[in-house]
Amino acid sequence: MRRKISVAPMMDCTDRHDRFFLRLISKNVMLYSEMVATKSAIHGDRKKILSYSPEEKPLALQVGGSDKKELAEVAKIAEDMDYDEININLGCPSKKVQKNKFGACLMKEPDLVSECIDKMINSCNIPVTVKTRIGFDDTESFDYLNKFILKLKEAGCKTFILHARKAILKGLTPKQNLNIPKLNYEMVYNIKKENPNLEIIINGGIYTIDEIKKHLKLCNGVMIGRAIYQNPYFLTDIEDKIFNVKDKPTREQIAEKLLKYLEKEVKLGTKVNHIMRHTVGLYHGQAGSKKWKRYLSDNMMARDSDFQKAKHIMEIVQNNEKINQVTT
Ligand SMILES: Cc1cc2nc3c(=O)[nH]c(=O)nc-3n(C[C@H](O)[C@H](O)[C@H](O)COP(=O)(O)O)c2cc1C
Repeated sequence: MRRKISVAPMMDCTDRHDRFFLRLISKNVMLYSEMVATKSAIHGDRKKILSYSPEEKPLALQVGGSDKKELAEVAKIAEDMDYDEININLGCPSKKVQKNKFGACLMKEPDLVSECIDKMINSCNIPVTVKTRIGFDDTESFDYLNKFILKLKEAGCKTFILHARKAILKGLTPKQNLNIPKLNYEMVYNIKKENPNLEIIINGGIYTIDEIKKHLKLCNGVMIGRAIYQNPYFLTDIEDKIFNVKDKPTREQIAEKLLKYLEKEVKLGTKVNHIMRHTVGLYHGQAGSKKWKRYLSDNMMARDSDFQKAKHIMEIVQNNEKINQVTT
């Protein structure tokens, strides 16, 4: 599996359209779905919730739940739908998620999680991986985390994505929980040192190529969320400096390919905004960025926005491209 660099699962962000867009920029990163609750995956509109374009692969489905039977069923569904991995969310701190007994609160229940992993592994032939925090509330100790990981290793889990920040289950919103308390990368490095045979992926607050390179010396992989969503073109730097892929696509080439996808999707009933909203960061840090954002917010939310806009989108892209060629 290619988990050297992955894009983090992000609710309301990494849907299938975003993943298609990101894949136009990077062939080498691993992509994750947003978290899908077991019950939605089993009883919901599966086509709407779980379908994806083959171009998105390699792709992992992230699931939230704590019912062994349901988790096993979703693992099998993921395999049948040709996902490359099933990942269980043990890191989300939101109240709603806690109420339904999944996410970070499951760090308190290693036995239950271990049984869930065991059932998932026995029901499918794709890798079952874990995404978790380094602790919760007053618990941020190497011993606790290491025992938790060992328990899941005994059940057969070999890959752990560690968001290097503990979850505060009471008193902080999910948004605050992404920035507070401080990151503790040492904890993740120490887990890797103690468990050299496990695949340990580090996550949290990683924004630059230098940071990625430093983490890769001490962990097996790096997972990046906001830095890529806010600045998707950062992936071209990752392709170049981490994967040694030298032919960078221009933003114009990316947009051109995305518009072909847009045309196809709009015919199937997808709203233009559902695709284009993920491109807000395409000109991040570039001349024309403000204009691009304003254009998207003025036009893409309109109810009547349809594919006729594609020509106009391309004009703005080409114009931005020209401005940047002059200014760089
Ligand atoms: C908008 C948003 C939605 C998120 N949704 C999920 C999710 O569905 N599942 C999950 O495991 N983590 C979720 N996260 C956490 C990210 O996967 C990641 O662990 C976190 O953002 C830290 O990485 P970063 O600093 O590189 O963004 C979300 C984060 C953000 C910003």
